[in-house]
Amino acid sequence: MKKYFSLAIISLLSIGFWSCQAEIRRPDVQIIPMPASLTNMEGTFSIGSQTKILINSENKEMQRVTSYLTIHLEDFYQIKSKVTFSGAPEKKTIFIKLNTGLSISKEAYNLVVSSKGIMLESPSPNGLFYGIQTLLQLMPPIKQKLSEVVVPAVVIRDTPRFAWRGLHLDVGRHFMPKEFILKYLDYMAMHKFNTFHWHLTEDQGWRIEIKKYPRLTEVGSIRKETLVGHYGSKNYDGTPVGGFYTQDDIKEVVAYAADRFITVVPEIEMPGHALAALAAYPELGCTGGPYEVGTTWGVFDDVYCAGNAKTDTFLMNVLKEVIPLFPGEYFHIGGDECPKTRWQKCPLCKERMKAEGLRSENELQSFFVERIEKFLNENGKKLIGWDEILEGGLAPNAAVMSWRGEKGGIAAAKEHHFVVMTPGEYCYLDHYQADPKNEPLAIGGYLPLKKIYSYEPVPASLTEEESKYVMGAQGNVWTEYMKTPQQVEYMVYPRAAALAEVVWSPKGSKDFENFKSRLIRLTKFYDILGINYCKTEFKQ
Ligand code: ACM
Ligand code: ZN
Repeated sequence: MKKYFSLAIISLLSIGFWSCQAEIRRPDVQIIPMPASLTNMEGTFSIGSQTKILINSENKEMQRVTSYLTIHLEDFYQIKSKVTFSGAPEKKTIFIKLNTGLSISKEAYNLVVSSKGIMLESPSPNGLFYGIQTLLQLMPPIKQKLSEVVVPAVVIRDTPRFAWRGLHLDVGRHFMPKEFILKYLDYMAMHKFNTFHWHLTEDQGWRIEIKKYPRLTEVGSIRKETLVGHYGSKNYDGTPVGGFYTQDDIKEVVAYAADRFITVVPEIEMPGHALAALAAYPELGCTGGPYEVGTTWGVFDDVYCAGNAKTDTFLMNVLKEVIPLFPGEYFHIGGDECPKTRWQKCPLCKERMKAEGLRSENELQSFFVERIEKFLNENGKKLIGWDEILEGGLAPNAAVMSWRGEKGGIAAAKEHHFVVMTPGEYCYLDHYQADPKNEPLAIGGYLPLKKIYSYEPVPASLTEEESKYVMGAQGNVWTEYMKTPQQVEYMVYPRAAALAEVVWSPKGSKDFENFKSRLIRLTKFYDILGINYCKTEFKQ
């Protein structure tokens, strides 16, 4: 465990009220993700119903952030605490201080626990929220009535390594109920993730209400049956399934995420993975259909026609409804796995290529993406897409999500485009995490905990300047083989805990054995919360 004596002393002096205590070795402070600097100190602080929680601002957001502490104390230990907004910090106080004068980033915080009290400070509520997440992990991983919660003395100065700390969820292959999405966000917040990439449309299901095009959900959200077993199997289950989110559901999720400092990035897939939309509106495809919502997995030849003005109008109208629902900076337009077979034969696609002087279907895709980018930019959004959007030339301001290895991300960063790293080999949480013989059916691959933990998001081939374009990394959760929320949890945890450390903790601070020992404690919280995590790593 890292020790930063001087930082610890400065922190203690800077808060004035609490006197210096000696640093000690103590294995029981086990935080995930590992803070940037953590020093164990002698002593403990006991939180009871008499402990005063003092906030230096009556600002609503500060009260809400503090409620994550008070609700946890009550929910886990039945301790009702008192929150006050005035007075100087005195003995036995938890002081939550919005300190706009601090020159640390808005997600950074300082947390000092001594026998006399607790001091948490950050220049913004974001950092205070993360400081509270850390404080909650310092508490005992039990849920029972306690007269006092004993917290070990520590000095923590913490700041995330990356600005984009993402988890994705595909609700197209299998719809996941809103209640589960809220839990997914809770668990993300606990691990200090800040970006939820919500993959809302797919060949096998369109999951977001669009008022102008009701058939997208009436027709496009339902498939008549689903493939049984692996891709290539001839068996289908004969059972129709569906599900979608109303725009009110979406607003609720986005607000819930914002309360936890998570930005929701929607993905509306185009020009490929669009079969559900084509089933609803066949005139948007090159052949005119008829089409059927996908019942098997993989990549389909039928995609949006890139030469038809009707497709342009449709997509802009869809975006017009979706954009206002998501206040974040980025909008994901997919762009992956779009076969060009239909475009090669389609009179409208060929006509557009000729009219625009496009020499290949890849250039037609780039032309299509550039128009969408222009529309998004005009409506206050930045475009992000899978790395295929590089193939016919990158749209002027587009960011790239690199999934077919790191090549696309490296190329984009070298062109000074922002990048999120999600290479399949390290970041695909739909891959097996243990011996497939003993695991529920998954798509394939092999991504054990140790491998995801080892991931380094900044490729060595980038210069220091180019590295600044790597916004962070993300775990992707494709749900072909995850029919239920329980199965999603099983595939995501505990691997997301390893990824949390990849994107939060300082480069060079990683130690897998140490992580594993901390993880054992964290899983006790998972048990209390009812997270259905994979236990293979803990069986030895
Ligand atoms: C992808 O996995 N098709 C982005
Ligand atoms: Zn066409």
